[in-house]
Amino acid sequence: MITPIQSFEQYLEAYEQSITQPEAYWENQAAQFLWKEKWSKVLDWNFTEPSVQWFVNGKLNITDSILDRHVQTHPDKVAFYFEPNHPEEARQVYTYLEVYEQVCRLVGVLKSKGIKKGDRICLYMPMIPELAIAVLACARIGAIHSVVFAGFSAQSLAERMNDCGATMVITSDGAFRGQKTIPIKSIVDEALEHVPSVQHVLVYQRTNETIAFKEGRDDYWATAMEQASSVYVSEAMDSEDPLFILYTSGSTGKPKGVVHTIGGYMVYSAFSFAHVFQYQPGDIYFCTADIGWITGHSYVVYGPMLNGATQVIFEGIPTHPTPGRFWEIVEKYNVTHFYTAPTAIRSLMSFGTSIPKQYNLSSLKVLGSVGEPINEEAWHWYHDTIGNQQCPIVDTWWQTETGGILISPLANITPLIPSYATLPLPGVQPVLVDANGTILEGNEVEGNLCLKFPWPSILRTTWGDHQRCQQTYFAAYPNLYFTGDGCKRDHNGYYRIIGRVDDVINVSGHRLGTAEIESAINEQVDVVESAVVGFPHDIKGQGIFAYVICTPSESNEEAIKRDILQMVTKVIGPIAKPDKIVIVSGLPKTRSGKIMRRILRKMAEGEFHQLGDTSTLLDPGVIEGIKEKIIALG
Ligand code: PRX
Repeated sequence: MITPIQSFEQYLEAYEQSITQPEAYWENQAAQFLWKEKWSKVLDWNFTEPSVQWFVNGKLNITDSILDRHVQTHPDKVAFYFEPNHPEEARQVYTYLEVYEQVCRLVGVLKSKGIKKGDRICLYMPMIPELAIAVLACARIGAIHSVVFAGFSAQSLAERMNDCGATMVITSDGAFRGQKTIPIKSIVDEALEHVPSVQHVLVYQRTNETIAFKEGRDDYWATAMEQASSVYVSEAMDSEDPLFILYTSGSTGKPKGVVHTIGGYMVYSAFSFAHVFQYQPGDIYFCTADIGWITGHSYVVYGPMLNGATQVIFEGIPTHPTPGRFWEIVEKYNVTHFYTAPTAIRSLMSFGTSIPKQYNLSSLKVLGSVGEPINEEAWHWYHDTIGNQQCPIVDTWWQTETGGILISPLANITPLIPSYATLPLPGVQPVLVDANGTILEGNEVEGNLCLKFPWPSILRTTWGDHQRCQQTYFAAYPNLYFTGDGCKRDHNGYYRIIGRVDDVINVSGHRLGTAEIESAINEQVDVVESAVVGFPHDIKGQGIFAYVICTPSESNEEAIKRDILQMVTKVIGPIAKPDKIVIVSGLPKTRSGKIMRRILRKMAEGEFHQLGDTSTLLDPGVIEGIKEKIIALG
């Protein structure tokens, strides 16, 4: 177990050491895990190719440190309390020993299907403990998992499976989500019509609904597990072998497969969990993120389990059956650590303070926030109403690509400022740069946030396209990793994340690229062209605003808008549906044909008088037409 940093002075010392002697610092951290063979070199890196290697030539299996180690010392410790979507369904408890046995048996199933080291397995499942078990079974056999959030459409799922060449899918018959039952397996079946590489489908029965079953390809989890033998020996992996691929959106093109490798990710996910949350034995941790996102990878599966933590896994949604559900769970399990997204806080805040007041939340010790900037109002509500002014809020800034939290308070150690992510973790070297790439020294500066030195869980590549990784993250500024975020450093050197400076929008803490939404909208037959921007949204943080040009047609605008929403749901999934659509006759373009998104953003915010310089527009007249349409939309 990692001993958390215990005071601010200790943090400053650790930080200093991590910067002046990074290799010695991380070598000490890495020594706290089980390795099959020690590394020959701690770090090898350059940000030009880029090429980053941590714990070079080290051999390990991450599940040895997650399972075998804990099973030896405390087999009966609870790993998961499973809270089902429907509160009346009995809760289930999984000890570390039970998880270990299930994982080893699932490895037996994977072996029987011919899965081997390096194969890609796609996981498309609800938020149930078996998803974590499937993740760990992949890691144990050395297969690369790619979890796809079960809210993505069949088309998105197919694109991801084709991109990584998955040979197997682990899924469920259906999923319970609030009042709805989602036909997961039929989405997989639809996707697989376009994915020739997949030969095996393993189906966990969650909803017990009737599903189509393809003999020779499909198998039920329970039957396969019964027939398989348990495989206890874990595969020896290289520190730099890929652990997983997770698809995420960027400014351009299709989502890219961010690749994380085993050794560095293990060390950093465990390290950051221990220090940021200050988790102590006996604590009950509850992170509301789905394992389909990076937060669920690093702070449901890997970070907490590497630390032997006990956690609640919740299948449902915060408002089912009532908006008191999260608080009911906190009370029921005596949750000490609660980690969620600002969107959830804002949404629950809108139901009023009287709801959380009905529950006993006195077990809480630490509150966390992730995924988007937390506004001060939400911060104070969280702090006062949920934390009773007793719990620090760790506002954790990080990204899919960073693998773990990079800038955040350490609970009860770092002084807090509402809406500030505050200070970097040891080993993290942030810099702010201006538009020309000049590093802004000193305090009270604002610029683009970059990192100038690798930390162990930095992404290594984007699957199948290293060039894209180089272009996206390492080309904007020489020798720096560029995050895509704007950021301010205040007079004390504290960091405040301002938001994306590229064409990525953050809707309810979920990252979406405007280009991918536009290309989904453009598939609707009536659409000629579209432009999507983000706009401030009270609950979601940012909403999606779509400007659409259509062919002249008899169809009425409302019908076209409905079709557009359906198309976006089909191509990406419901999370990418625009909140507002205006059908316009032209878009503000420069003479060279570039859409001036700055103007579209301002108009989406209703700021028609502050559009800035419009003199370079090819046809300044389009502005008036768009304005009328937006006003009519209300
Ligand atoms: O803009 C930042 C925002 O979320 C982006 C990363 O999104 P994703 O890769 O989906 O990972 C989300 C979960 C880590 C960042 O570039 N973001 C994340 N955390 C914060 C944040 N913005 C402000 N404050 C945060 N704490």
